[in-house]
Amino acid sequence: MARSLLYAANWKMHHGPAAARTFIERFLELTRPAEGRRLWFFPPAVSIAATCEAADGRPDITVGAQNVHWEPKGAFTGELSVPLIMEFGARAALVGHSERRHLFGETDEQVGRKVAAVLKAGITPLVCVGETLAEREAGRTEQLVVRQVDAVLERVPSAEWSRVVVAYEPVWAIGTGRNATPDDAAQVHELIRFELGRRGVKVRVPILYGGSVNKGNVLALLARPELDGVLVGGASLEPEGWAELVGMGA
Ligand code: 13P
Repeated sequence: MARSLLYAANWKMHHGPAAARTFIERFLELTRPAEGRRLWFFPPAVSIAATCEAADGRPDITVGAQNVHWEPKGAFTGELSVPLIMEFGARAALVGHSERRHLFGETDEQVGRKVAAVLKAGITPLVCVGETLAEREAGRTEQLVVRQVDAVLERVPSAEWSRVVVAYEPVWAIGTGRNATPDDAAQVHELIRFELGRRGVKVRVPILYGGSVNKGNVLALLARPELDGVLVGGASLEPEGWAELVGMGA
C-alpha cells in the first residue's frame, strides 16, 4: 500500500475570514488532490467557516479548530464547544498544543477530556505532545511524552484510538528555527507507538512531527517511515510556500 501523508497547517492567530478565503482560493489554484496526501487546515475559529466554504469541493482538505472545550455547552465564557465548531464546518480539532499547555495552563487532564469530547462528537482529534528544552536537557523527554500520552489513555479507551492522530512537537523546536533531527523525531515517534501498544492500542496511530518544519527540512524528516506527516506553523502562512511544501513529498 502506498504511504499516506498528512500535512497540517496551524495558522495560530493569523488570517481572519477574508485572508483565509484569499489563501485557500490561491492554494486551490496551485494544488490538485494527490493520491495518499491529506491536507488539514487549522485557522482561527472565526475563519473556520470561510476556510470551509473556500475549500468546498476539495475532498483532500479537512478544516479543524485550534482548541475546544470538553463540555458540549454551558456557562464557559469565551470557550467553543465541539458542536459549535462543527456547526462552522470543522471536522477535526487540535488538542493540547504546547501553546495551550504552556501559555494558557492547559493540563494533561483537560487534554484527555478534550480528546474524549472530540471523539464522542465523531470528529478527529490531533493531540499534541512534546517536551520543553529543560526537560530534554534533563533527559526527561521519554518520561514527559509518556506522561502526556498516558493522560489521554486515561480518558480514551484503547479501542477508540483508530480515530486519533498524534503530533509530536518538541516545545524547543516550535517557532525557533531549530527543528528536531529526523533521528530525534523518529525516536520519539517510536516511543509513542511503543507506549500505545503497551497500553493495548492495536492500530497504527498516525504521528506527525511539528516544530520549525520548512521546505528545507521536510524531505529529510518525511524520509523517516516513523513520520506520517507534519504539523506546520510559520511555513504554512503563505499559499505559495505551503503549496510548494506539500508538493515536495509527493
Ligand atoms: P512552527 O512551524 O512555526 O515552528 O510551529 C509549529 C507548530 O506549533 C505547529 O502547531
